[in-house]
Amino acid sequence: MSSTFSEYMEWAKTRSAARFNLASSGVAAFPLADLPVRIEDLEICGDSAYGYAPLQERLARKAGVDPDRVVHATGTSMANLLVLAAAVSPGDEVAIEDPTYSLLVDAARWLRLDVRRFARRAEDGFRVEPREVEKALTPRTRLVVLTNLHNPSSAFTPPEDLRAVGEAARSVGARVLVDEVYLESFAVLGRPSGSAAHLGPEFVVTSSLTKAYGLSGLRCGWAVADPDLARRMWRLNDLFGVVPAHPAERLSVVALDHLGPIAARARAILEANAEGANAFLAARPDIACAPVDGGMIAFPRLLRGGVEPFCQALRERHETTVVPGRFFGAPGHFRLSLGCARETFEGGLARLARALDEAGGP
Ligand SMILES: Cc1ncc(COP(=O)(O)O)c(C=O)c1O
Repeated sequence: MSSTFSEYMEWAKTRSAARFNLASSGVAAFPLADLPVRIEDLEICGDSAYGYAPLQERLARKAGVDPDRVVHATGTSMANLLVLAAAVSPGDEVAIEDPTYSLLVDAARWLRLDVRRFARRAEDGFRVEPREVEKALTPRTRLVVLTNLHNPSSAFTPPEDLRAVGEAARSVGARVLVDEVYLESFAVLGRPSGSAAHLGPEFVVTSSLTKAYGLSGLRCGWAVADPDLARRMWRLNDLFGVVPAHPAERLSVVALDHLGPIAARARAILEANAEGANAFLAARPDIACAPVDGGMIAFPRLLRGGVEPFCQALRERHETTVVPGRFFGAPGHFRLSLGCARETFEGGLARLARALDEAGGP
């Protein structure tokens, strides 16, 4: 079945806004006024044909790879689309984790790829089980797709499990796409991240400055791939957007040069909210959820009542939004985001507690 639209993205754009928005998954927007940018740093047009060199150089340094492996793209979204379109042909198969960020599935279907799924089970902490991946592979598989950290659960997949997935993929001639947009929170928190970009040529990684740094509007995304696939992606991008908005490339360079203070602000938000979230999750007998450990989203299971009426009541009576789990393929859960300002997060948690009480909690 091919799908032309993302039901989730339409919901996120039109129905997630609320006074206490615990649905939007990024760190609160970083203000332009706090970026030490001078007008001389900006220009309307520039030499961006296949990458603006100063930006390529910084992204390559950040990823710890050569610039010819880096493809700058309009957000992780476009980076993912470019990887899917460049690494797989219509009629070939992709194996995508389940549950996942639904746009990965929507984009694959729109490209007329055959989508198979492999399970990440709630009872196993949503871990990637290499045996499950193997079961989804066939001789037609060209790409395995997973998110690390996992959207929606924030589960971390360590390099040894990724290597096992890589070996299985290689045995059928497939690559592995690891969407690492949430792994940036490990960088923000000063943890070693273990990016899959260094695990071997079959790995392709995508990420952006969107989520962990509060810089969504820059749309500074990238993919790291082997140089041949990277070239194919650049050529494909000629069809999609030709070149990015040059002022955004320039601003991205400034942001990357000041990532330290930008990350420090994000870290303060994430650490404070993780503490609040963990106290909340531990205190509630009516939801089940692993403690937050370095991630910026959590995915509790509601133990009493339906998630849809719960989310609706939360929004209508308590001015608070979370993302219903059906958008990820796990309708018994909801996704809670830790990126908003501390007061907003605390206010949202208090309302979440009230809504749970009303739904029959303690
Ligand atoms: C796993 C995942 N990948 C990509 C994106 C989109 O990221 P970007 O804003 O960088 O396009 C999201 C946004 O929610 C996401 O959750």
